[in-house]
Amino acid sequence: MQQAIGLLLLGLALEASAGSVTQRADLNPQDLERVAAITQPTSDFSQPEAFEIMQGGAGTVKKRINPDIFSHPAANLTFEARQEFMVGNGLFRKDWVSSPASTQASDGLGPLFNARSCQGCHVKDGRGSVPGFESIDRSDAVSLLVRLSLPSSNDDARARLDRGEVVSLPDPIYGHQLQPFAVAGLPAEGQIKIDYTEIPVSLNGGEMAYLMSPAYSIENLGYGPLHPELRLSPRLAPPMLGLGLLEAIHQNDILANIDRGIAKGVSGRANWVRDKETGEKVLGRFNWKAGQPDVEHQASAAFSGDMGLSTPLFPSHYGDCTAAQQACFLMPNGAQENLGEHEVPARLMDFVTMYSQNLALPQRRDVDDARVLAGKKQFYESNCIACHVPKYVTRRDASRPEHRFQLIWPYTDLLLHDMGSGLADGQEEGDASGREWRTPPLWGIGLTKTVNPDATWLHDGRARTLLEAVLWHGGEAQAARDRVVAMTPQERADLIRFLESL
Ligand code: HEC
Ligand code: HEC
Repeated sequence: MQQAIGLLLLGLALEASAGSVTQRADLNPQDLERVAAITQPTSDFSQPEAFEIMQGGAGTVKKRINPDIFSHPAANLTFEARQEFMVGNGLFRKDWVSSPASTQASDGLGPLFNARSCQGCHVKDGRGSVPGFESIDRSDAVSLLVRLSLPSSNDDARARLDRGEVVSLPDPIYGHQLQPFAVAGLPAEGQIKIDYTEIPVSLNGGEMAYLMSPAYSIENLGYGPLHPELRLSPRLAPPMLGLGLLEAIHQNDILANIDRGIAKGVSGRANWVRDKETGEKVLGRFNWKAGQPDVEHQASAAFSGDMGLSTPLFPSHYGDCTAAQQACFLMPNGAQENLGEHEVPARLMDFVTMYSQNLALPQRRDVDDARVLAGKKQFYESNCIACHVPKYVTRRDASRPEHRFQLIWPYTDLLLHDMGSGLADGQEEGDASGREWRTPPLWGIGLTKTVNPDATWLHDGRARTLLEAVLWHGGEAQAARDRVVAMTPQERADLIRFLESL
């Protein structure tokens, strides 16, 4: 009898390893087996899984649910790390001003810019909101930024992209991104205008949903007409939770999601992008198209593109100014000899990066609620987990100690998927096509509106509810979306309850 149980356990372990063990030099064979077993998708929906409530591993916080719930430092930071986090927090909130200014240490904003602070877009460390929906004042609409790119129409352009010199081809005048603001004396580039058309969707059980389909244009162009072939890609500021943990997921686990996805009928792809420090091609993980490899790259790109501030990785003081915008280069900049050659010196950059890596996940709520468990079952059975991969164990050798060997539940494969024509922006970015988006992590998503009541979902914030976000899924996710349409009203409500518990 005992031998039979032993064999059975061995069988289970082997089955698990066949499915999900990848080559990971950071783990010994015993650990590999444990990790394979614990990251196997569950099939028991009668009770919560072990540690499921701690969705961000040991860094997860149990705090009062209020609008500050996304702003806590990870629970497992040392005292010293907490001090660094606090300094980074100050820089994330700080309003930068244009040069020359009397507040020497925070000038250099612009010449062109989208916002004065990181927090201006990542509202209370959560996501932003879009103009055009009822309660939102248009002038507040900074957190929807518009990326600009041209199709790679000729061989020369294709070669520049292949060499990784650029991830997308900029507009010759307006650059990579539209900046709706400029310093005094310089024209701003323009403002986004959105016209929504309502699309009714009939759901099984007699329910209706109404999707808002956006059409984008640019008003008040400051530098003449846009290139006729230009593609606009509006993007909403995403929440800042658990980003260091996403960096600490082993690359081989992400690449293993490609085959695991194929077995489940989807075809995720990696976005290989250029590391600006080493020049190597590395796996993209961050942003809506996985166009940036790590938090430091994206935080530096934000200082440059969104605020016009130079950093070691993006050394131009003039951000996204192009050769066609000569007046832009004549504006004063904020570099100061005593602080080094960049407006945001390496030391400050390190604090902002550290902060951005360590915003804590809140504990899950109601994990043992019968409706939440029923919704979790719907989530698994509708094949949502083909892309929204539930859990990982992070690298044992992650660069920061608090991110090492953590069981985390981000619900993403960090891969690109064709999401159909409804969501397509026609914009290529690195290896991502004009129809592909990176699966966003779903952890924390249930508290979105607690933190910012105006926040909405999807890359351009067009979904006013979680259900609308799901109903926009097409392409590789069409079958999953159709299952949600075909659910009974109770099953659909359960699915949403599960998402709200994340
Ligand atoms: C103008 C609004 C805006 C400002 C200002 C801004 N961000 Fe962002 N942020 C965004 C948007 C939009 C994205 C997604 C971009 C994309 O998909 O291309 C993003 C993405 C990110 C990401 C990647 C998150 C993820 O889950 O992939 C990080 C990290 C980040 N920003 C950090 C910062 C930091 C640090 C600052 C300040 C230096 C900052 N941001 C300023 C709008 C903004
Ligand atoms: C083929 C891969 C795939 C499948 C299957 C899939 N998703 Fe997604 N999901 C994505 C991608 C990619 C996005 C981002 C799309 C965008 O922003 O345009 C997304 C976005 C979302 C969002 C909004 C996230 C945010 O931060 O705004 C929710 C909620 C969501 N999915 C839930 C689900 C549910 C529930 C299911 C199953 C019924 C599901 N997804 C199935 C890939 C997938």
